[in-house]
Amino acid sequence: MKSTAKNLRRISGKIAAFILIVIMTSVLYACDIRQGGQSGSGRRIVRIGHNQATDHPVNIGLAEFEKYVEERLGDRFDIEIFPNELLGAQTDMVQLTQTGAIDFCVASNSILETFSDQYTLFNLPYLFASTASYHAAMDDEDITSDIFASTKKAGFEAVTWIDAGTRNFYTVNKEINSPSDLKGLKIRVQQSPTNVEMMKLLGGSATPMGFGDVYTALQAHVIDGAENNELALTSNGHGDVCKYYSYDMHQMIPDILIGNCEFLESLTEEERTVFYEGFELFNRIEREEWDSAVQASRERAQKEQGVTFLYPDTEMFRQICLPMHENFLKEHEELRDIYNVIQVLNEEV
Ligand code: GCU
Repeated sequence: MKSTAKNLRRISGKIAAFILIVIMTSVLYACDIRQGGQSGSGRRIVRIGHNQATDHPVNIGLAEFEKYVEERLGDRFDIEIFPNELLGAQTDMVQLTQTGAIDFCVASNSILETFSDQYTLFNLPYLFASTASYHAAMDDEDITSDIFASTKKAGFEAVTWIDAGTRNFYTVNKEINSPSDLKGLKIRVQQSPTNVEMMKLLGGSATPMGFGDVYTALQAHVIDGAENNELALTSNGHGDVCKYYSYDMHQMIPDILIGNCEFLESLTEEERTVFYEGFELFNRIEREEWDSAVQASRERAQKEQGVTFLYPDTEMFRQICLPMHENFLKEHEELRDIYNVIQVLNEEV
């Protein structure tokens, strides 16, 4: 009975998500039809969705992208940014980008693994040994370009990556000093098989859900904790409820700006150059903003929200997760060389 109810809930959840996408697509297309796909001034509207607040480095970087493109191509393009999941959760926004109902969105690399399993590589726990090697790897086109293009058939491709820091566990009221402390805890993870697998290995109970639902789930004690970078504590208010943040450093998962292929292919050479310079600018500004945003979050979380930061021995967590690397590579021999290059960066950078 219980599992039938669960199945029904899962199915109705999927139907609700599907209906939302159909509605969003129809609304956006209706606007386009009314306006001929253009703003009142005859400019092509370019819609970009993301799930962060307006003070987040992602939004600050995108605002600079908007300025840069409009200063050069403002007679042709009107860039519109939709923050705060206004266009739906990340999985919905990726599908809207796929169909061309919107042109771009920022998606976590985790989410993209369900569209192309090549992306799983960057989701592996403890893949990168340091922030420096993570950045060096993501800046290396020999590492990223095939993976970034792997969803082209699905209708979208990655145009740049941006920093999303290091992911760590945080809980309402339990200190996580070792993996055994996770036992029996319901921890929200992103909707990705890798994250569910990681949580299982570490002993907690994985509860996948969209980012926008986490705060309420924490408050209602539906979950005992979550895992994310420090900004989730302040920018998303999770530190109002969660009082322990534990630096186990399990993942450095980039965020990815993806674009609809048809839109990108429709650009003239001149327009393409400006857009791609804009993507680079977005990458640079977001990364420049990142460290100070983390610093400010840590201070606010400690002083105003009463969050305690813990520093467990990360090696205990790493050893448990490491078998995931070889299991993945066995199924993706084609990515072994890239994996090995990342290991060299881990040693040298
Ligand atoms: C980070 C990341 C987002 C992601 C979120 C999550 O905030 O930058 O892209 O959606 O984590 O945990 O879902």
